[in-house]
Amino acid sequence: MKIILLGPPGAGKGTQAEILTEKLKIPQISTGDILRAAVKAGTPVGLQAKAYMDAGDLVPDDVIIGVVKERLTEKDCEKGYIFDGMPRTIAQAEALDAQNVQIDAVLSIEVPDEIIITRLGGRRTCPECGMIYHTQTKKPSKDGICDACGAGLIIRKDDETETIKNRLETYHKETAPLIDYYRAQGKLKDVGGEYNIASQTAEVFKVLGL
Ligand code: AP5
Repeated sequence: MKIILLGPPGAGKGTQAEILTEKLKIPQISTGDILRAAVKAGTPVGLQAKAYMDAGDLVPDDVIIGVVKERLTEKDCEKGYIFDGMPRTIAQAEALDAQNVQIDAVLSIEVPDEIIITRLGGRRTCPECGMIYHTQTKKPSKDGICDACGAGLIIRKDDETETIKNRLETYHKETAPLIDYYRAQGKLKDVGGEYNIASQTAEVFKVLGL
């Protein structure tokens, strides 16, 4: 199964992708996680991406298309995958179509901007394994420590209020047009974004027939 999770920053794409990965035994392809790892490792892609990410702007399409093309050649992608945060522009979607990537379903998770700001303000992330937590809705067992790998949790640099506002503007301008793009292909499934995490997962499973 090949699935795209589409939605604004903080919609819960990463949270639901983690759960779907476990359920379907296929990998999550998060371009955000790939880029953050590249920044941490100081690779040429990371050096190119860092300033865009820190500002809450999109990394150029040619960089993303190259990174994803390479990732899809890995063996774990043979049985399918879950795109989290990709595509983010019409050009990226067209590149997937041009590579003949057959997407089964595009889940559009829409969440009002004011809820996004609360969610991202409370997000805590594991810099080692990428697990996502929240100070109110998904606390780790031990304060500030990742349940999965024991690393100290961090606040992402792009979760500062001004950067969140820019990310939301960028989403509405560059990414939201993909909703109509995939609706026209008959692949779009709307998933309510205001539920709590468990109810949202139930909704995701329902629309995917799981
Ligand atoms: P990326 O890492 O993809 O960030 P994003 O899309 O902005 O998405 P987020 O990770 O912020 O949110 P999410 O929807 O995954 O929400 P989450 O599950 O964490 O991208 C970062 C940057 O990289 C971009 O700004 C850009 O610069 C670059 N980039 C990446 N991909 C790119 C591309 N394709 N093209 C160009 N540039 C690209 O949840 C958020 C919080 O809410 C968590 O704390 C969670 O616990 C909580 N939560 C989740 N669901 C619920 C719920 N239902 N109820 C209550 N709380 C919830």
